[in-house]
Amino acid sequence: MEERISVNNVSKGFGEGEARVDVLDGVDVRVGRHNFVSLLGPSGCGKSTLFNIISGLMEPTEGEALVDGSDDRLGTCGYMQQKDLLMPWKKIVDNVALGLMVKGTPRSEARRQADDILERFGLGGFGHRYASEISGGMRQRAALARTFLAGDDVLLLDEPFGALDSLTRLQMQSWLLDVWQESAASILFITHDVDEAIRLSDRVYVLSERPARVVLTLEIDLPRPRPYEMVMTREFAEYKAQAIRYLHPDEPALIDEEVIPDA
Ligand SMILES: Nc1ncnc2c1ncn2[C@@H]1O[C@H](COP(=O)(O)OP(=O)(O)OP(=O)(O)O)[C@@H](O)[C@H]1O
Ligand SMILES: [Mg+2]
Repeated sequence: MEERISVNNVSKGFGEGEARVDVLDGVDVRVGRHNFVSLLGPSGCGKSTLFNIISGLMEPTEGEALVDGSDDRLGTCGYMQQKDLLMPWKKIVDNVALGLMVKGTPRSEARRQADDILERFGLGGFGHRYASEISGGMRQRAALARTFLAGDDVLLLDEPFGALDSLTRLQMQSWLLDVWQESAASILFITHDVDEAIRLSDRVYVLSERPARVVLTLEIDLPRPRPYEMVMTREFAEYKAQAIRYLHPDEPALIDEEVIPDA
């Protein structure tokens, strides 16, 4: 089975009758082994809902979501939700150890492993601080560390860098790319940031306004590693122009059609 995640023709609505809201409309998404794939779409279009479905927290109204070919997917993905969900009354090390402890690892062993991963994630020495005592960038790294430590190698990351200033964000992208390259993880990543999606990914799905449909699938054929400077290349700009054209279909195209390859 090559695909780690297959979302096949998934639709989702909430509520009944007058109150019904259609959120996803026939969405297809694939993530292969050790792929990095992003979802790019307007606010409120249904991205987090799709993650809730893939993780098994919700069922689709129509279609199917499979992890490693199986519909029985609850507990098979590491899921970093949009809010970092660190518990402010617990030390960072205990927040990070939690992912292992809920899977049955004894506390002392979970703490030892949490200390190791905090070191690797550049948070060595901060384990005994409380979540409220570290910066936003550190909190997000700690939440990512917890997600990685739980040991799942299919990861759903919902806007993990959403709260960061642009400089920290660029550093975190580089750092995530390094961590991912050394791991066996397959990642599905949500972002609003076009540069971020293209820089990180093997493939980018652009979604429409709610109810979300996939309006563009971009295979990003740029070499790795991808230093930040790559955003200034012509190849990068062409991907970006295409993504923006589909994200903002009502805006007049500012860029000469010639530079944009056909969809
Ligand atoms: N459990 C639920 N019950 C009812 N409506 C819901 C539920 N979950 C999500 N929705 C609705 O579905 C729509 C899409 O929400 P979702 O959180 O998936 O969007 P999103 O693309 O992640 O947005 P953002 O980019 O702002 O995070 C919203 O209108 C939201 O109110
Ligand atoms: Mg969301």
